[in-house]
Amino acid sequence: MVWHPAVVVVGIDGSERSLRAAQVAADLARVHSARLVIVTVVRPPEGWWGIVGSPPPAEALASSMSEAQKGILDVAMHGLDLDGLEWEATEEIGDPASALSDVCRDRDADVLVVGRRGAGVLERLVIGSVADRLTHYAPCPVMIVP
Ligand SMILES: Nc1ncnc2c1ncn2[C@@H]1O[C@H](COP(=O)(O)OP(=O)(O)O)[C@@H](O)[C@H]1O
Ligand SMILES: [Mg+2]
Repeated sequence: MVWHPAVVVVGIDGSERSLRAAQVAADLARVHSARLVIVTVVRPPEGWWGIVGSPPPAEALASSMSEAQKGILDVAMHGLDLDGLEWEATEEIGDPASALSDVCRDRDADVLVVGRRGAGVLERLVIGSVADRLTHYAPCPVMIVP
C-alpha cells in the first residue's frame, strides 16, 4: 500500500522555524491534494489556575488570548504560499503538545509537521520540548523540520 496523506496538520508558534515547517507542510499537502490544518496553541498564563483555584471562564480566557493568536496566524498567513490548497486555521488553548495531538486525533491526521525548534529560548536544547514530546506520543507520523 502506498502512503497517501489526505490530512496534513502543522503547528505554528509564530517562530521563523515553525513557518518553515508550515511551508513544508503546505507543499506536502499540495502534492497529495491533501487538506492542510494549521494549528496555533496558546498556553494559559502560568498561575492562572493556581491563584483563582479553578479554571477561568472560557470566555475570559479566550478574549485574553485572541490578540496574540491573531497575530501569529496573520503573520503566518502572509508568509505562506497556500495557493491551490484546501486549508483551515484553528486556534487552541492549552498545552501545545497535547492540543496538537488532540487536533490530529480529531481530524484523523495522516501526518503532523512541526519545526525541530520553535520560539523557545533554551538554546542548549537540540530539540524543543513540544517537538520532543510529540515524537513520543503523537497519534500519527511526525515530520520534524530542522
Ligand atoms: N504553541 C504552539 N502551537 C503550535 N505549534 C507549536 C507550538 N509550540 C511549538 N509548536 C511546534 O513545535 C515546533 C517546535 O517547538 P518547541 O518544541 O516548542 O521548541 P522551542 O523549545 O524551541 O520553542 C515549532 O516549530 C512548531 O512547529
Ligand atoms: Mg516552544
